[in-house]
Amino acid sequence: MKRTHTCGELRRENANQTVTLSGWVNSCRDLGGLTFIDLRDREGVTQVVINPESVSEEIAKLASTIRDEFVLTVIGKVIARPDNMVNKNMATGAIELEVIDVVIDNRSKPMPFHLNDPNVNEDLRLKYRYLDIRGSQTNENLRIRHQITMMVRNSLSDQGFIEVETPILSKSTPEGARDYLVPSRVHPNNFYALPQAPQQYKQLLMVGGIERYFQIAKCFRDEDLRADRQPEFTQIDIEASFVDQEDLYSIIEKMLYDIMLKVKGLEISLPFPRMTHAEAMDRFGSDKPDTRFGMEFVNLADVLANCEFKVFSGALSTGGQVKCINAKGLAKSSSRKIIDQWTDFVKQFGAKGLAWIKIEEDGNVKSPIAKFLSEDELNGVISAASAEAGDVILVVADKASIVADALGRLRLEIAENNDMIPADVYNFLWCVDFPLLDHDEETDTWHAVHHPFTSPYPEDIEKMDTDPANVRARAYDVILNGCELGGGSIRIHQPEMQEKMFKALGITDEEIQEKFGHIVDALSFGAPPHGGIALGLDRLVMLLTGADSIREVIAFPKTNKAACLMTESPSGVDAEQLEELHLALVKLEEK
Ligand code: AMO
Ligand code: AMP
Repeated sequence: MKRTHTCGELRRENANQTVTLSGWVNSCRDLGGLTFIDLRDREGVTQVVINPESVSEEIAKLASTIRDEFVLTVIGKVIARPDNMVNKNMATGAIELEVIDVVIDNRSKPMPFHLNDPNVNEDLRLKYRYLDIRGSQTNENLRIRHQITMMVRNSLSDQGFIEVETPILSKSTPEGARDYLVPSRVHPNNFYALPQAPQQYKQLLMVGGIERYFQIAKCFRDEDLRADRQPEFTQIDIEASFVDQEDLYSIIEKMLYDIMLKVKGLEISLPFPRMTHAEAMDRFGSDKPDTRFGMEFVNLADVLANCEFKVFSGALSTGGQVKCINAKGLAKSSSRKIIDQWTDFVKQFGAKGLAWIKIEEDGNVKSPIAKFLSEDELNGVISAASAEAGDVILVVADKASIVADALGRLRLEIAENNDMIPADVYNFLWCVDFPLLDHDEETDTWHAVHHPFTSPYPEDIEKMDTDPANVRARAYDVILNGCELGGGSIRIHQPEMQEKMFKALGITDEEIQEKFGHIVDALSFGAPPHGGIALGLDRLVMLLTGADSIREVIAFPKTNKAACLMTESPSGVDAEQLEELHLALVKLEEK
């Protein structure tokens, strides 16, 4: 018996037809001898009725054994329901199926949880992920993911890109995380690294004259996991030759426009706004600013330069910053307790305190720091923050990186907890001109902010020797609603410049040869100017489905501890396997 229709398909027009449906028992009720079954497949649900009087005794008996999540194939006659019995909540609500014959294709043990119960513990859902996928939300997420992937392929193919696969068993790429290593049996004591990204391969494809490459690429990074980070994830990876930043922006904008139209039915406006990294840090304390709401930073340096409060003047005189945000309308609700919570919150990010100034509804100004400020200074702060009655100003003084992080996160925290973020708004933007290098104070070394293949602006190259902190990279991130969707850069394409960059990162000649010999070599065979970008596919799908974690849009994700609860991996292996790989385990307590 093969199905003739899906469970979402039958309408009144099908009345009196004999059809065959297959699916799972969504629910099963016995009412006065009649068995009502909601039969579900991917496309929907159809009500099926077994009337013991119109089927054989054998089938009636079988019907009494049917339970939730059994798999059935039913043959029946489509019956139009009377107008007053139509179920408007079901696409198939105008009909029901009167059963002639039933086959139980398979039985099911009692379910560990109810499908679609929003309160099921995530670990349980992950242990039985195949059942979780059977529930409509995860199923729907995977379908949207497919739609987005198809749009990516179509849009990029239409724009002249070809999809090329690159190796998974590869060599360590310096994307900033720890590598997953794979021991080689054939080459004892040698390891492949799983790619953190196909960065070097895609550049080598440009040397190979591919000109426009893309790949839906699996990437592996052993890093601390969060809601938007998985140890293995998928990038929409792109590289093109003979392009500048503007070309890449418009390629990505076109692709995202197509996706938003198809998946959300929204025509987003192009081009996306651009913001330099410096401006983003200054206004939002973040390189991925969420511009769906205000509460931007206000710099109080001018107003407070000479103030007597040592916390402020001290920060300013030692090269730090004093900045505030204005939490509009929150003076009344920001009790002592709330302010203490905010203070503890910013302390997690290194701030030493949180100064506040409340303008109460009657215009009275209340603040623990009022006594340290002159009237001009206090009014200066209020006017700089454009604060009015009912507002509360929150100030952090510290070195720039701490002010940015602490106040930037507080801004998001307050907005989230006070419903300041509008729903269904999709704010894309380009954050551009990142710094090329970042100084690590602990080791006194310089790191590549993006990666070592990123090109500096030609006019800034000189500064690589004299003022490395202020060299701007031709690097850009695409941001959606405060989430880093993707990042890329125009690359270095000349071997001399690449070596100069490696040197700036403190990499020795031997290391360059050992780790990056192939790249430097390739660049010396007529590498074209090129650049690219990679977007996190999981993050894009998460944002467009409204999921709160990328785990919700990955078929078989890992937990925050990088484990798969379903297959119970990672797991031990046989002694023979280890031996073949020339590996020996060290007992943990011996370490
Ligand atoms: P980058 O490291 O910025 O750039 O990564 C690009 C995008 O990949 C996504 N992403 C992740 N998603 C889920 N889990 C993770 N652990 C994770 N790490 C990164 C993010 C991020 O913006 N080769 C360069 C790109 C280039 O220069 O072309 C690269 O990988 O959305
Ligand atoms: P104190 O004089 O230490 O009691 O601080 C007075 C107020 O200044 C308190 O509200 C502190 O939270 C706040 N404060 C202390 N250090 C900082 C800082 N670095 N930035 C902003 N406010 C601070």
